[in-house]
Amino acid sequence: MDVVISPMPHTAAERAGARVAEAIAANPLLVLGVATGSSPLGVYAHVRERIERHGLDVSGITCFALDEYVGLPEDHPQSYHQVIRQTVTEPWGLRADQVHVPAGTTGDPRQAALDYERDIREAGGVGLQLVGIGGNGHIGFNEPGSSLGSRTRIKTLHPRTREDNARFFGGDMDAVPIHCITQGIATILDAGHVLMIASGAGKADAVAKMVEGPVSSACPASALQLHPHTEVFIDDAAAAGL
Ligand code: GLP
Repeated sequence: MDVVISPMPHTAAERAGARVAEAIAANPLLVLGVATGSSPLGVYAHVRERIERHGLDVSGITCFALDEYVGLPEDHPQSYHQVIRQTVTEPWGLRADQVHVPAGTTGDPRQAALDYERDIREAGGVGLQLVGIGGNGHIGFNEPGSSLGSRTRIKTLHPRTREDNARFFGGDMDAVPIHCITQGIATILDAGHVLMIASGAGKADAVAKMVEGPVSSACPASALQLHPHTEVFIDDAAAAGL
């Protein structure tokens, strides 16, 4: 695991964004794993700049999101379909068919999870996976206690995660869905490269456990220690526990 510490969050995002842009330039058919949350926004903005100013060609890439809430309509502003559309698909000028997000509203989330896992496999697997980290060490929506061998499936959100994400739902924790579909930890570990981005003091404890703690389902992100090509881009505040 390579840990790159930057003084400021925007520097970490620029460095991570440069990595993503380089990966796309090196492989115009890249299968890119994208994440929601506030952490990757600076990364997406950097890639957008490369597209607009330097003509980075993204017309051949395919994106797979990590997760989606169950039961939230796809046009709900906080559904990850909508979030990825607004932060990646539209700013990067991607076609809708280039971007995949688990289907949380089919009425059969178990089947939707299996279908998603198959879609990733059929696309040839993720080449570069971008991930954030939850304050409790989750990756995607793999909460503490998730099996390190897990594949895409339905999960129940931890109350801490629902509390953390309530800010996106007008501060109302009850408005945050209870279930989600998330790529599993083993699914994430299948990616060729994993790029983690985190900033702020609220992530310091989770980052320390991920990097220096034992590999344990108590901190799902610690499973990334098992991945041979993981880069962690963090700012000073998120690195405070190292
Ligand atoms: C959500 C997402 C995660 C993300 C986490 C952190 O729970 N499912 O993929 O890493 O939020 O969000 P933020 O980057 O806003 O702190």
